[in-house]
Amino acid sequence: MRKQIAAANWKMNNTQEEGTKLLNEIINSDVQVNDNQRVIFAVPFPYLVSANQQLNNRANMFVSAQNCHNKTAGAYTGEVSVDMLASINIQYCVVGHSERREYFSESNQQLAEKVDRCLSKGITPIFCCGEPLTIRENDGQNDYVAVQLNESLFHLDGETIQKVVIAYEPIWAIGTGKTATAAQAQEMHSHIRAVLANQFGDTVAANISILYGGSVKGANANEIFSQPDVDGGLVGGASLIATEFIQIIKALK
Ligand code: PGA
Repeated sequence: MRKQIAAANWKMNNTQEEGTKLLNEIINSDVQVNDNQRVIFAVPFPYLVSANQQLNNRANMFVSAQNCHNKTAGAYTGEVSVDMLASINIQYCVVGHSERREYFSESNQQLAEKVDRCLSKGITPIFCCGEPLTIRENDGQNDYVAVQLNESLFHLDGETIQKVVIAYEPIWAIGTGKTATAAQAQEMHSHIRAVLANQFGDTVAANISILYGGSVKGANANEIFSQPDVDGGLVGGASLIATEFIQIIKALK
């Protein structure tokens, strides 16, 4: 059974003190995270260790990296490898966020390598896909996302792909306050599941969590998450406000 997931993406926000306070407010609130659910905090690299300590093995809550390098080790100054993440017990890593694709020119091929690196160390990649506005305006989003999935994930076998979490994040909805409607989200999520089913079969596709990302907040989480193919969200801005993120966690199926 696929998991329902609320993933916070702090991006390049919060000092250590602010992050510690935010995390404390959330984990010490009345949120209940059931076994069919996961709550994940993608924090900046310097806080991975302390955030993990703060969670202290709380049931179904995990810390995630926001990125990793596509090579195993070597002369890549400033970069972080998957081996390093595994060595500090990190179990999730965001791969291919649209900001990485855009500002750091990450290609589908490089992202395929990052996915492989993560999986080789037992780290779950949260693989992001999604179209820019110009593609959506020309109704090209289905093909665009299918190519992203194909080029970064379709080298995997049916068993391994089930270890990947997919996040659909239409670029025009990220940080813009402009959310895809629940119907638009469902339409794309069901397309993604159909693309996965075509490649890996229906059973495999049904086991893969597909999160929606793009201006999710407390007030719209219920409607979006209630769609049959939406398995939770990857949340930026609203994950920086404890009360908002708590409401989002509570909206999980
Ligand atoms: P947002 O960001 O919730 O601020 O739109 C989502 C994301 O980029 O993961």
